[in-house]
Amino acid sequence: MKNFLPTDYKKNEKLKINHSYLVEQFFDYSKIFKELEKVVKKGDYTLGKAVDECEKNFAKRTGAKYAISVGNGTDALLLTLKALDIGAGDEVITVPYTFIATVGSIVTAGAKPVFVDIKEDYNIDENQIINAITKKTKAIMPVHWAGRPCEMEKIYSIAKKYKLHVVQDSAHVIGARYKKKHLVNFGDACTYSMHPLKNLNVWGDGGFIVTNKKKLANKLYLIRNHGLKDRNTCKVFGYNSRLDTIQATVANYKMKKN
Ligand SMILES: Cc1ncc(COP(=O)(O)O)c(C=O)c1O
Repeated sequence: MKNFLPTDYKKNEKLKINHSYLVEQFFDYSKIFKELEKVVKKGDYTLGKAVDECEKNFAKRTGAKYAISVGNGTDALLLTLKALDIGAGDEVITVPYTFIATVGSIVTAGAKPVFVDIKEDYNIDENQIINAITKKTKAIMPVHWAGRPCEMEKIYSIAKKYKLHVVQDSAHVIGARYKKKHLVNFGDACTYSMHPLKNLNVWGDGGFIVTNKKKLANKLYLIRNHGLKDRNTCKVFGYNSRLDTIQATVANYKMKKN
């Protein structure tokens, strides 16, 4: 247990709560190194075996049919908007109280972010969403802040009524459930970050999109890898946003442990 305590614990009279405990968290890194050795010995660096395993593990953890790994949580948002054909002339409803990447992904996709304020729990005020809907609205992007899911029943029912997509920025809620159900059941997709400060973190950047929709999943598998169906067939123009095999190895180790 000693190893899990902050390194400066003994020096402080009162226990200080640090922003992160990354050094303590990965104190047993030699076990991960052993797994990484296998990757190096096989030269299995891009979309390798560990990435396949990671996608299976992540789908299980989030109760989703499909888990598409990507380079980071920001790309997870952007690629989902792109795969849903959201862009110039479209509006996406979200919150101003979030990390810049939420709003950045909407702007980068070419769409306009429309803000709805948060409530005391720091999540979107679901009762204000209808007032923000216009003819140009294509999606709602709720942000589940700091581990607490938004009121997804209400949000999803509004989305269905107005025929809007729901892309849940789930960067802070890996594994969370809403009314005992996995969040993936309340919209088109959930997006995740595995940045070192997130609760399922890797040794750099990593991200995920989960969905129960086969068509969306297939589009995402393509566009996260240049639109390539195989080495020689390009179906659509896409991006280079693959989860690194090295980061997938770290994520697999963590998912096995916790
Ligand atoms: C709410 C939220 N959305 C999206 C992101 C973007 O994730 P990433 O840093 O992996 O691109 C973050 C990261 O901090 C975040 O907190």
